[in-house]
Amino acid sequence: MARLGGEWYDDPGREDGQARHWGKTPCDRLQETPDVSVTKDDVLNILAKIQTPRGVPLPAAKVLSEITATDGKVFFSLTVDAAEARAWEAIRAQAEEAVRAIPGVKTVMVALTAERRPGSGPATGGVKPAAAHRPGAGTDSPMGKQKAIPGIKTIIAVASGKGGVGKSTTALNLALGLRGLGLKVGLLDADIYGPSVPRLTGLKEMPKLNDDKKMIPLQRFGISLMSIGFLVAEETAMIWRGPMIQSAVKQMLQDVAWGELDVLVVDMPPGTGDVQLSLAQHVPLAGAVIVSTPQDLALIDARRGITMFKKVDVPTLGIIENMSYFLCPHCQGRSDIFGHGGARHEAERVGVPFLGEIPLDMAIREGSDAGQPVLETDPSGKYAEIYRAIAGKIKNALRLEAAVV
Ligand SMILES: Nc1ncnc2c1ncn2[C@@H]1O[C@H](COP(=O)(O)OP(=O)(O)OP(=O)(O)O)[C@@H](O)[C@H]1O
Ligand SMILES: [Mg+2]
Repeated sequence: MARLGGEWYDDPGREDGQARHWGKTPCDRLQETPDVSVTKDDVLNILAKIQTPRGVPLPAAKVLSEITATDGKVFFSLTVDAAEARAWEAIRAQAEEAVRAIPGVKTVMVALTAERRPGSGPATGGVKPAAAHRPGAGTDSPMGKQKAIPGIKTIIAVASGKGGVGKSTTALNLALGLRGLGLKVGLLDADIYGPSVPRLTGLKEMPKLNDDKKMIPLQRFGISLMSIGFLVAEETAMIWRGPMIQSAVKQMLQDVAWGELDVLVVDMPPGTGDVQLSLAQHVPLAGAVIVSTPQDLALIDARRGITMFKKVDVPTLGIIENMSYFLCPHCQGRSDIFGHGGARHEAERVGVPFLGEIPLDMAIREGSDAGQPVLETDPSGKYAEIYRAIAGKIKNALRLEAAVV
């Protein structure tokens, strides 16, 4: 069991079973920077002033994880029994506040992890069956606890059941397509296991903090960007536990100075497990776009994606068939490498819009992997046209209006 934004869920780990090895942990990265400000002892001293439900100060309650405090960034977690979770949420919040007040602290992340004892009943405050969720319906519903992000008019997810189908590439090009339609656009890379936005945009720099200690999103191609990949480097294994995932995504949504956006595109992690479901529940989504390749296996996963969003009452805006067919650059001959048209049939079958077909093309792959999305490198080309047409359908479906300037 793990905490998700004040709620609880079973966290079986990454659904698609792929281990990602891509980056140093925030801790690894922080170790490299000389600590000029807050120390672990400073944190422990402050935490000692917090009384716990166990009648002892927090450091003595045997719930604290290792504390990382480097370069003004503090991370730790509290591990408690699920039955006590409600009471400990207040302590978690108190701890976060107290540490934030230590001079020199720039960022604090305190996660609450609950272990359910074998044979014990469901945790109090547990997530209800997903089918019972209704956005905004009552304070008991996790959807009701979603917080709108000030300044952001609409948030959409780009998702796929299966990994590697081109979701991130599509998310960025769609974001650029929406920008091309006059909208103010942001892109949030919620794939904390394998963030792609640094690679897709060629950006590696660390976001700066504004006076309110909010991270300022990076700017590229006229859109605002945030990714965990901007905060950590890419070489070593990154292991996230459920509550850390939620805290990280929550911070990237709420502790980022997004400014005024017509639409924020969220590049979701692949899979349809509880991690994705919880993200879908906690991000106030207006709709989801499902990316699939045409093969049956990918389509089965796409169907799972649609079902997942349905469970949390997020409408599917449509399906995109990526790597739909291959056009030979030499002879212009067309090959339906993965069997073409599967996504269109699936969309018809489940009654959601079919948004378009993006061919498999070296230019898309090379450009994406070199930080040069095709909409930038060839804005009047045939692929830019396809992405723009899909962006237009999404804009219409969401009834987004560009500001008149
Ligand atoms: N239409 C396309 N034509 C050619 N290559 C593509 C196309 N779409 C994506 N790719 C390439 O396929 C690879 C996977 O794409 P991408 O990272 O966007 O997928 P993803 O679904 O986000 O993957 P993950 O599940 O790992 O997050 C990348 O190398 C990308 O450049
Ligand atoms: Mg991706």
